[in-house]
Amino acid sequence: MSALRTIEELGDVRGKRVLVRSDLNVPMEDGVITDDGRIRASVPTIKDLAGRGARVIVCAHLGRPKGTPEAKYSLKPAAERLGELLGHEVRFATDTVGDSAKATVEALADGEVALLENLRFNAGETSKDDAERSAFADALAGLADLYVGDGFGAVHRKHASVYDVPQRLPHAAGGLVAAEVEVLKQLTEDPARPYAVVLGGAKVSDKLGVIANLLAKVDRLLIGGGMAYTFLKAQGHEVGNSLLQEDQLDKVRGFLKEAEERGVELVLPVDVLAATEFAKDAEHEAVDATAIPADREGLDIGPRTRELFASRLADARTVFWNGPMGVFEFDAFSGGTRAVAEALIASDAFTVVGGGDSAAAVRKLGLPEDGFSHISTGGGASLEYLEGKTLPGLAALED
Ligand code: 3PG
Repeated sequence: MSALRTIEELGDVRGKRVLVRSDLNVPMEDGVITDDGRIRASVPTIKDLAGRGARVIVCAHLGRPKGTPEAKYSLKPAAERLGELLGHEVRFATDTVGDSAKATVEALADGEVALLENLRFNAGETSKDDAERSAFADALAGLADLYVGDGFGAVHRKHASVYDVPQRLPHAAGGLVAAEVEVLKQLTEDPARPYAVVLGGAKVSDKLGVIANLLAKVDRLLIGGGMAYTFLKAQGHEVGNSLLQEDQLDKVRGFLKEAEERGVELVLPVDVLAATEFAKDAEHEAVDATAIPADREGLDIGPRTRELFASRLADARTVFWNGPMGVFEFDAFSGGTRAVAEALIASDAFTVVGGGDSAAAVRKLGLPEDGFSHISTGGGASLEYLEGKTLPGLAALED
């Protein structure tokens, strides 16, 4: 990949209208932000540009509305939180490229910040139709003089604000995107070894590409979470009512074989917390991973697995972790995820938490964020990067 231009290289931005694509896609409950990690991560680039006298127009998405406004997906709460973090008001446009957006941008003074309403309220943002996307990109680009791509969590999307707008304006990568890419490069180009990857989460089908690519790169692959049961089944064990993707069994058998051929140590759970139902207060006990009762479902890795995983991470020099080890949202089944996080915190390795649920888990479990070398803001984006794919939002920023 050729170098990304930095925001410093944009030169004098005073008085210029700079469209910053951030990822403000934060979890909300009843209009209240429950984890502001992505907003906090977006602040430095916005602050830098505003501090240099730019008129900063932030744009972002929230959730997956279907191309029309829906109150529950409004970015208004994000504008308020961003304003608190910046220490001054963020003007909020109630549309994306309409009268409100134009008037809001018009009213911006040097050093001020505005946020446009959820880009996905306009069907052009995510459209697969190039002409429809282009029309929206033209309108967005028309609001600004310069473009800064800083929404790392969305760079794997070929969307108007991510992919098409930077082709229409002089552009640069924001500090967050630059930092995230730097970390991913460290993981892909000559990582310090042993290199261990811990994967979890519900579905193995979400991780097929990354597993296939990582088998050629890592020394150890530790698998937990819901996806582990498809691996256990592929080894011939019964998994009771646990999550299982029957249609992926052949693929997973192929991974087991390839790992063996390549000498990659593939570490699976040796015990699990088997529960009577999927509920926070479900009756449960630790059982061998090879003896899950037919009427039980595994909701977390068990205590012996936590020790095993910690031991396989202890001497690693590079660790990438994506996906919870169990249903961490339920206290009784959060222990496995906590154990993996604590093993990373205890390690001297270069440790990267790969966004999404694992980053949310770190914060929900009250673990120190500075205990890791890096917590990514992009789950899907970092996985696709590690898969070796070209990410549209990064390709568009290259010159
Ligand atoms: C994310 O939450 O991973 C990013 O914000 C991208 O959102 P999306 O998966 O809805 O495109």
